[in-house]
Amino acid sequence: MTPVVLRTPRLVLDQPGERDVETVFEYCQDPVLQQYTTVPVPYRREDAATFLLELAPRWWEEGTEQTWAIRLADVPDARLLGVIGLRSYGEVGYWMGAQHRGHGYLGEAFEVVIDHWFRAGNERMTWSCLVGNVASARAARRAGFHFTRTGPATVADRDGSHPDSWHGELFAGEPREPQPGWPAEVGG
Ligand SMILES: CC(C)(COP(=O)(O)OP(=O)(O)OC[C@H]1O[C@@H](n2cnc3c(N)ncnc32)[C@H](O)[C@@H]1OP(=O)(O)O)[C@@H](O)C(=O)NCCC(=O)NCCS
Repeated sequence: MTPVVLRTPRLVLDQPGERDVETVFEYCQDPVLQQYTTVPVPYRREDAATFLLELAPRWWEEGTEQTWAIRLADVPDARLLGVIGLRSYGEVGYWMGAQHRGHGYLGEAFEVVIDHWFRAGNERMTWSCLVGNVASARAARRAGFHFTRTGPATVADRDGSHPDSWHGELFAGEPREPQPGWPAEVGG
């Protein structure tokens, strides 16, 4: 699959690469990011290099996952702010560098990735996070996802376990606004 560049008013989503190694290495030291994602712990510079130079390009090539760097548009050599990925079966995943959270960048990137997925003719998109990851769940709720269940994680954690997770889904043509039925701490 040829990498696709997506744009929003403030952002460009493009292929992450060698220039992002130091940034990803830095962001992935964050304990919150380590708690809620399956990045290696401890996270070494080599892990960032493997992700950016081997895994992400291979996923694009094989079509197993579209992985985008989230950057500010119209800034030369813009630094990576976060990452959003979309697996071939429609599961979305994301993280932002700690200092770039709370600006609505993730929500903006999420919307354009949803558009991209449904424009390609797909019918369903899924999302999940570990139970208690309110920031991730609120982003999915705001994007229009329905809460479906609490149950084992789809993707294995570092220790091979499938910890309790919140799951949601969104179908083509559905409104992109908060739906009822989420856990109370996410907004009900
Ligand atoms: C999940 C993540 C990408 C969201 O990005 P963000 O920039 O914080 O997104 P937003 O600022 O739009 O916040 C999303 C919502 O969560 C809320 N929120 C953010 N941090 C929160 C926190 N610590 N506790 C409760 N709510 C929180 C925001 O108020 C916002 O709510 P709203 O939609 O009702 O306004 C970011 O928090 C992150 O990178 N977390 C660590 C990695 C991670 O958990 N990835 C997801 C794995 S499934």
